[in-house]
Amino acid sequence: MTVVGPTKADAAGLPGTLKIARMDSTQQGLIDQHGRVATDLRVSLTDRCNLRCEYCMPAEGLDWLPSDETLTDVELIRLIAIAVEMLGVRDVRFTGGEPLLRRSLPKIVAETKALPSRPRTAMTSNGLGLKHMAKDLAEAGLDRVNISLDTINRESFAKITRRDRLPDVVEGLAAAREAGLKPVKINAVLLRGINDGDAPELLRWCMDNDYELRFIEQMPLDAQHNWNRDAMVTAGETLSLLGESFTLTQMDGRGSAPAEKFLIDGGPHTVGIIGSVTRPFCGDCNRVRLTADGQIRNCLFARDESDLRTALRTGASDELIAERWRTAIWAKLPGHGINDPAFLQPTRPMSAIGG
Ligand code: 5AD
Ligand code: SF4
Repeated sequence: MTVVGPTKADAAGLPGTLKIARMDSTQQGLIDQHGRVATDLRVSLTDRCNLRCEYCMPAEGLDWLPSDETLTDVELIRLIAIAVEMLGVRDVRFTGGEPLLRRSLPKIVAETKALPSRPRTAMTSNGLGLKHMAKDLAEAGLDRVNISLDTINRESFAKITRRDRLPDVVEGLAAAREAGLKPVKINAVLLRGINDGDAPELLRWCMDNDYELRFIEQMPLDAQHNWNRDAMVTAGETLSLLGESFTLTQMDGRGSAPAEKFLIDGGPHTVGIIGSVTRPFCGDCNRVRLTADGQIRNCLFARDESDLRTALRTGASDELIAERWRTAIWAKLPGHGINDPAFLQPTRPMSAIGG
């Protein structure tokens, strides 16, 4: 049996009344039948968002999850503790929708960081309001942030997000850097004819400000189901586009990281390209996702979910929940299947899964 994570039993120091026995040598982590081990947990804290990115959701927003279906802070921390202390999870990333909309975020971060195994913590956010929160989050134990920013051109930003909020994001980024949430990474999605022409300018700006930029291929995860392959700016196209303004040299060692990294003009700055569709990295995936309503998704593109909320609310023990979680991961498919003619988009959109 493969054992990942800590092996010494030590339940001391867990927040509140949590008494979770830590992983011991008889326990198994989150292993799937293709031999991958999930150690990176993405926790969606809400499906709500204050932007309306056109590749994500319609202008009018979506029917948000009812609050009684959303996990409470106590439920959420219990699940995170089970993942970290019993199932070998080492990294916890908070996502949304927009995670900053969850008021208790600093408390959730602090309680996660206070777990005996002290997982690494990160957040994927659109950056709105981060200028007011960055310091508190860093003090609570947040290690890093990824901020979504598709362009540094105010007009294209407003067009894509349907909100004229570029200055707030720029301020949020600066606050994150000042609070020491480093490296500050930026995720950008390119849309043909809207912001693809802005890509070199965005990269130059990120270099000047010491932010690490990564371009992500647009994936079929929009609520409107409008994605189409021909409109997607591929990783290859992004590289040629940037190649007109910069000399890019591929670096080795992608590991389980989805980004292929390139040195810009001999360094030290780098840019990442995430070819989720055309250069899939499913064989190295180490991720597992928990939705805001307590469902485990073993893949962004999974069509099935495993309900932990009902287990939580009907008195299941930590061991039983951990076992359900292992079963959910065991069934993970080898790949996302986007390139398969029979591919069906998941019913849940990205905003309700988390990045
Ligand atoms: N394809 C690729 N990336 C997406 N994101 C949101 N929707 C999509 C999509 N359909 C990005 C956001 C954010 C992260 C969570 O994923 O811009 O950076
Ligand atoms: Fe909000 Fe992120 Fe979706 Fe944009 S991509 S609307 S920031 S959840």
